[in-house]
Amino acid sequence: MSKPFDFEIGKLTGPETHSAQKTALYPLTADAFGRGPERGTFFLETFGCQMNDHDSEKVAGVLLARGYRQVETPEAAGLILYNTCSIREKAAQKVFSRLGEYRAKQCEGRIIGVLGCVAQQEGEDIFERAPWVSLVCGSASYRKLPEMLAELEAGNHRVTGLATDTDETFETEMTRRDNPFRAYLTIIEGCDKACTYCVVPYTRGPERSRASDSILREVRQLAEFGYSEIQLLGQTVNSYKDPTPRKMRFAELLLAVADVPGIRRVRFTTSHPSDFTQDIVRAMEVQPKICEHVHLPVQSGSTKVLRAMQRTYTREEYLEKIAMIRSASRPIAITTDIIVGFPGESGPDFRETLSLLDEVKYDSLFSFKYSPRPNTPSLKMADAIPEEEKSHRLALLQDQQREIQKAHHARVIGGTYEVLVSGKSRRENQWSGYTSSYRLANFSSPAKELLGSYVQVRVTGATPNSLVGEHVV
Ligand code: 5AD
Ligand code: SF4
Repeated sequence: MSKPFDFEIGKLTGPETHSAQKTALYPLTADAFGRGPERGTFFLETFGCQMNDHDSEKVAGVLLARGYRQVETPEAAGLILYNTCSIREKAAQKVFSRLGEYRAKQCEGRIIGVLGCVAQQEGEDIFERAPWVSLVCGSASYRKLPEMLAELEAGNHRVTGLATDTDETFETEMTRRDNPFRAYLTIIEGCDKACTYCVVPYTRGPERSRASDSILREVRQLAEFGYSEIQLLGQTVNSYKDPTPRKMRFAELLLAVADVPGIRRVRFTTSHPSDFTQDIVRAMEVQPKICEHVHLPVQSGSTKVLRAMQRTYTREEYLEKIAMIRSASRPIAITTDIIVGFPGESGPDFRETLSLLDEVKYDSLFSFKYSPRPNTPSLKMADAIPEEEKSHRLALLQDQQREIQKAHHARVIGGTYEVLVSGKSRRENQWSGYTSSYRLANFSSPAKELLGSYVQVRVTGATPNSLVGEHVV
């Protein structure tokens, strides 16, 4: 998915917001990037996960603080930045075709930069394949962006940030926030797990947790700006290890975030099953502001495949975590990620995944065909599954999940749920938002303005992926 975003001053958050607003409104004094109207402007396009989305929000903050102005099209920009994803091959392939599209624009003096996972993975080879690119920077080096920008402004055309041996996280003075209702906040970057199919440990570097006091300071500030929902982010968010002497546990951090005045909802994603402990469930039981949803990727229902993936748990251990969550005094929705067609996944292995779906009855899931990735151990594994068979398994899995979701939805019809309203339809009196359990609800209401408010919605029907309801006034 591609999300160029437009610049709105009201979406900036950070201690320097007021002075930044001023600089963002005035043209640059330095002769940076491009001549004419595009001077001092940037266009930023983002692919991939929520971590990438949020990294882009911070990159935009760094640029805005330097006096750049964000524009909506690459044609209008002096600096074109492209934040990339390499989790699966398809996403990575897009990068070079998109860079080709940007090529013509450089002839008019534009600077083109590649950020994110493909930047980290391909490194300086990008300059070989796309010599019109001037900046290649992986996420572990973003905190050096101001220096890199200064180099580009000074006319250097081969600037790289490719180190991953950092123990620092990417913190900014200011973040340009894209979602006006839910604020994303990265609490842990990189990953120290070593799942054999995954590029993340290579592209995002080792695990680094952010100091708890700095996280809480930002949450207080976000609350002051009017955000009421906070989503804590990390590839393995619950592996959080507070680097300060306070040594706050992840469950304590959830409670502390929920305690900040003005905060009404706290979400967190993605959790690793091995680090999902009882105290997190207890925190969810005692604090209703912590949303009743856990995203707990299983990847496969077969212990044999989980071993080959180095997922660090068996099917039975995973099911124990599910039982622990299900035994909570509040209902908690559970969603997951599944990979089909991992090398060596036999028919019976795949059927174990299907039977796991029936056992857990996930509220929803993301499913993927295994995609071999550079540098990963699974690349060299024998018994690759043919593409056609992967597609067949994916279809079977999705069909089965559709039925499970239908049954879930049938059970919620008639119930009333709190929804944070985040969308207004073009159709009159139609609104949308998410429940605490992260179900999308489309509902009708005669109210004039609801965006950003919490309302009670009575569910009257459902589609496979959303609820339909009406505002209970
Ligand atoms: N092939 C297919 N899916 C993958 N994922 C990660 N790496 C791969 C890969 N090589 C999936 C996992 C992960 C999600 C973000 O992407 O399910 O949880
Ligand atoms: Fe990748 Fe595994 Fe780390 Fe998740 S836990 S980011 S799948 S290596």
